Parts: sequence; C-alpha cells; structure tokens
Amino acid sequence: MTVEQVKPETTGTPAPGLLEPPLAGGGVPLLGHGWPLLRDPLAFMSRLRDHGEVVRLKLGPKTVYAVTTPALTGALALSPEYHIAGPLWESLEGLLGKKGVATANGPQHRRQRRTIQPAFRLDAIPAYGPIMEEEAHALTERWKPGETVDCTTESFRVAVRIAARCLLRGDYMDERAERLCTALATVFRGMYRRMVVPLGPLYRLPLPANREFNRALADLHLLVDEIVAERRASGQKPDDLLTALLQAKDENGDPIDEQEIHDQVVAILTPGSETVASTIMWLLQALAEHPEHADKVRDEVESVTGGRPVAFEDVRKLRHTNNVVVEAMRLRPAVWILTRRAVTDTELGGYRIPAGADIVYSPYAIQRDPESYDRNLEFDPDRWLPERVKDIPKYAMSPFSVGNRKCPSDHFSMAQLTLITAALATKYRFEQVSASDDTTRVGITLRPQNLLLRPVAR
Ligand code: HEM
Repeated sequence: MTVEQVKPETTGTPAPGLLEPPLAGGGVPLLGHGWPLLRDPLAFMSRLRDHGEVVRLKLGPKTVYAVTTPALTGALALSPEYHIAGPLWESLEGLLGKKGVATANGPQHRRQRRTIQPAFRLDAIPAYGPIMEEEAHALTERWKPGETVDCTTESFRVAVRIAARCLLRGDYMDERAERLCTALATVFRGMYRRMVVPLGPLYRLPLPANREFNRALADLHLLVDEIVAERRASGQKPDDLLTALLQAKDENGDPIDEQEIHDQVVAILTPGSETVASTIMWLLQALAEHPEHADKVRDEVESVTGGRPVAFEDVRKLRHTNNVVVEAMRLRPAVWILTRRAVTDTELGGYRIPAGADIVYSPYAIQRDPESYDRNLEFDPDRWLPERVKDIPKYAMSPFSVGNRKCPSDHFSMAQLTLITAALATKYRFEQVSASDDTTRVGITLRPQNLLLRPVAR
C-alpha cells in the first residue's frame, strides 16, 4: 500500500494498547505551550525530552506532538505514514509556490526528486569544483585585513552565487546572483515574521516593511522567470539542473507546465541559499571563537596543499576541516525545526498519533542532547574521529534529515562548506569587533544576529 492510497481518517479510534503521549510541562492558560515556544523556542524544544519521548503540546486550541529522541526522529522521517504538511509548509507554499519539490507529496514528489537528483549525485559534484573554488577564493580576496566584514551579507552572497552558478549555469548568472541575494535575504526575514506572528491582513497594509517584502518577493519570482526565459532563448542545453527541469515530464509523459518549472527553481534556490549562508556564518563564528581549531585547519590545509591555494580535489583529504564543519553544524544546525503530518491513525514509540496530527522535532535539541553527546555543549570536532564517532547514537546527527525528504544537496553542501572553511582559515585569523552580536537569531534558520568580524592576515 502506498501513502497516497491511505485515506486520512480523522475520526479513527485509537488502536488498543497505545498510550496517549504525556502533556509537556510549561504551558500557560489560553496560549498553552505557544508562549514558551514563542519566547525561547530553542530552550523550550531542548527541555522536552525531560517530559517524554513523545509529548503533546497545546498551541492555543490545537494539539501538536513533539518527538524528542534520535531513534524516534529517525522513525518519523523514515515512515511512509507521515508526509510534508503543516503550518510551516503552508505558509511557505503561499509565498514560494505550490508545485516545488520541497512541498509536494506522493507521486509528484517522487517524480520531482528523480528529476533533480542527478544534479546532486556524488559523481556530479566534481563538475562544480571550479566554480566553488573560484567563489571561495573570491571571498577571501574581497576581504581586506583590518576591515570589518559583515558576515551576513557576505555569507548570503557566496551561498547564492555558488547555488545559482553551479545549478542554473550561464554567464548571466553573475549579475543575477547579486539580485537573488538581496531578494532572498528580505524574503526570508519577512516569511519568518509572517509565520511566527500571523497578523494576516496587517501584512497587506502599505507599510514600508510590507512594501519592501512585496518588492523582494516579486523580484525573486521575476528573476526566476528571467533565468528560465533566457535559457530557452539561448537554445543551449548544458548538462545542469535547469536543463533537467526544462526537459522533465509529468506522470503522463507530458512536459511539466511553466508554473511547475518556476516553482521548482524557487524551491531549490531558496532552501539552498539560506541554509548554506547560515552555516557559513556559524563557521566564521566558530573560527573566531576557537582559534586553536582555526590554526589546526590551516595546518591541515598547508600539509595537503604544500602552500598552494586550496582546491576542490583537496576537500576529501581535509579530515579535520570536515570535522570542524560537522561540529559547527551539530551545535548550530541551520534547520532547527522540522514538521510532518500523520496521514493515518498511527503510532510512534508505542504512543497513539491520530490522523491529521502535526508532529514537530528539533534537530537543534537532538544534536545537543546530553544523553547522546558527552560534554554536549563543547565545540569538539574530534568527536567525529572514527574511534569516537561510534559512541554517537543513530540519528543523533542528521542535519540533512533522512528518508525520502532528505536534503538532496548534502554532498554539494559539505563540499562547498569544507572548501570555504579551508580557504578562509588559511588566509586569515578572525576577531569579532565590538559591535558584533553573535547571539542566536531564530528565524526559518538559525544564524548569528549580526556577526561582524575583522580578518587578520596570517
Ligand atoms: C531539504 C538541510 C542545503 C535543497 C532539506 C531538509 C533538510 C535540509 C534538513 C529536509 C527537510 C525535511 O525533512 O522536512 C539542509 C542544510 C543545508 C542544505 C543543513 C546546508 C548546510 C541545501 C542546498 C540545496 C538544498 C544547497 C539546493 C541547492 C533542498 C531541497 C529540499 C531540501 C530541494 C527538499 C527535498 C524534498 O522535500 O524532497 N534540506 N539543506 N538544500 N533541501 Fe537542503
């Protein structure tokens, strides 16, 4: 039986022997757990395991289920009894389009994954090497020793440029990547506000912030239309993701429609830039905060390259650099919360989950859990050495998720993050300037509030 054949039964009776998950503590009258979740979402999610492996949360009148152990997050992500839905996805769909891979389910999702997957396969990544190298070195060359670097803008720029140039190839991308960057940064800021504080009609008022958001959203969609139209007009069919999308067929063997092509490009560029940009910011913060690891990265890179600029082919030899990236992602995962919806009456860990229920879990909480990690809050890249990694429970470190919704871009992302970290740590040491604020800003992703660094030449 497939997920699509299962009809949600909202009035289903609980299967015998299954328990109702306990209600989490910390709720307040009327708002329930909405209040602590809004006030300090990371601390709230991190405490939930104290109340049970699966717990109920009251968000106003609504009951939401939270999963708190690595094993159960794996079971949830791998089970066909849950699909992508819920308030997070619905608000994304409203703004970014309904036909992209990130929000589709069932046969449409499987077909779309088949179309995009080849562009992200391990053996496809080396073709992106020259662009990744060029962008990583351009970043270090743009920065001047002693001058303050605005890490938010710079990280967004390099992430968008790499995704756009590698996946949607074309000379025109150079100028467009800058526009995409500006549009995406504004759109993500506004989207998070709309999700957390759903003030509906107020966002339609002609206020400066709303106008700026609407302009950025319109420009994002316009840019995507321009990219698609220019590729078509060029008559070129390079072996890239955009060609794959333009040649894709639907379930009946017919070409996919214009709206789906558009929504697919949006659905790949938007998660692709925000997540990588946030992770680069945290990597920069980690290099500044842990100079001993930055020095170790530099030593490793020099021992591999013998002093020449680091290249894409060096990446697989950079073990410590890779471990620094993984450890930064463990403590500051870009994607800090994920949701699913039960397709049918089902169970998790012996607890009853009714059809239609929304389930949340937090990779941030899972990856910092003291039950999974020794000295859980310590930045310790060596915990990923082969002799120590075996002590870490399965699914306790899944920043790209697992199962059929696993990020297609795990290899693509790890390659560029390792290369960028190597290029940065070889050229500079970093110091935070006094106006810098590296506290965590919770949005659609986690990133530092306003990271400002001064590069110091090595
Ligand atoms: C999905 C994380 C980079 C494209 C996901 C998911 C996670 C994730 C956790 C699964 C969501 C879920 O289970 O509900 C990350 C992280 C990244 C990263 C941590 C970098 C540090 C990228 C990049 C791209 C990308 C660079 C594209 C250029 C996508 C797409 C999906 C996705 C299209 C939806 C897949 C589906 O639903 O089938 N990502 N991602 N991601 N990611 Fe990434």
